[in-house]
Amino acid sequence: MAVETEREHLDPDLERIARANLTELGDIRIDDVLSFIDRGIENMPSYMDLYRRWESQQWAVGDLDFTLDRQDWLQATDMDRKSTLWSHRLFFNGEERVTSTLAPFVWAAPSPEIEIFLSTQMADEARHTAFFDRWWHEVVGTQTKNLGDLLAEIRPDTSEGYNELFYDRLPSTAQRLASNPKDIEAFIEGVTLYHIVIEATLALTAQRFELESMREMGTTDRGFYRGFIAIARDESRHVSFGIKVLRDAVREDAARFAPIIQKTLVECLPLISNTLDPPDPRYITDYGHTESEILQFAFDSLNKRLRAIGINLAA
Ligand SMILES: [Fe+2]
Ligand SMILES: [Fe+2]
Repeated sequence: MAVETEREHLDPDLERIARANLTELGDIRIDDVLSFIDRGIENMPSYMDLYRRWESQQWAVGDLDFTLDRQDWLQATDMDRKSTLWSHRLFFNGEERVTSTLAPFVWAAPSPEIEIFLSTQMADEARHTAFFDRWWHEVVGTQTKNLGDLLAEIRPDTSEGYNELFYDRLPSTAQRLASNPKDIEAFIEGVTLYHIVIEATLALTAQRFELESMREMGTTDRGFYRGFIAIARDESRHVSFGIKVLRDAVREDAARFAPIIQKTLVECLPLISNTLDPPDPRYITDYGHTESEILQFAFDSLNKRLRAIGINLAA
């Protein structure tokens, strides 16, 4: 019994990141947060380890201070604002979409440990949505009265790939799980889409480049940086969870589950590239990056996750 409740042992570097509060997170780089996922590949945490990380990694949107962010916004160039709004519209809307579609995954969880972990993730995604809501009100400024109206107003309209991922594939997978929570194949397809395509490949890539740009500009003391890196740490738990679910499925029955994962990924690859493609290339190039560099990072990350799961896309 004692073994089951014992905290996992992390080396000092990871322990510092695992324990960092919002202020300390300002001194942490996204690549160090992402190393949590890589570590998981060699020494995979259990679902209850991930639950215990969640307990010790709580943070509150209400503790952030956006005063400096607001000053930056008032002094920003038109290009800075357009580029930031493009990215944050995708994130804000996306966080709400993943909040609203996770409940059927909890219902369909194949074990109580998975059910407990996914329940923590629902609270995380709600917090991420609330983070962007607060940023929008206090930094951009909006007259919108409620969250629903604000989401409708900012809904991204620049990417077909995004629409298909968040408004077609994700809700229809969630619906399949809601209609038949015993459908384990739908669960595996859903985790591939949700945790590997959307979180591991799309969200963490976009987050990585935005947080690195902020670090290069010396703005890591801003409320946005601290909150966004706390979000990345939450996402590292979600992605570790997804890798474990899929790895265990492949180990249990590769002939049955590997083709489902591969087919989902192959279908989603163009949607990932399309979503990361800005309506104006300067949204990326003006900040010292190129689109091909970003796509390369996305697909390198995806390949790392696939190696941990134990499959490749060649088949
Ligand atoms: Fe999230
Ligand atoms: Fe997430």
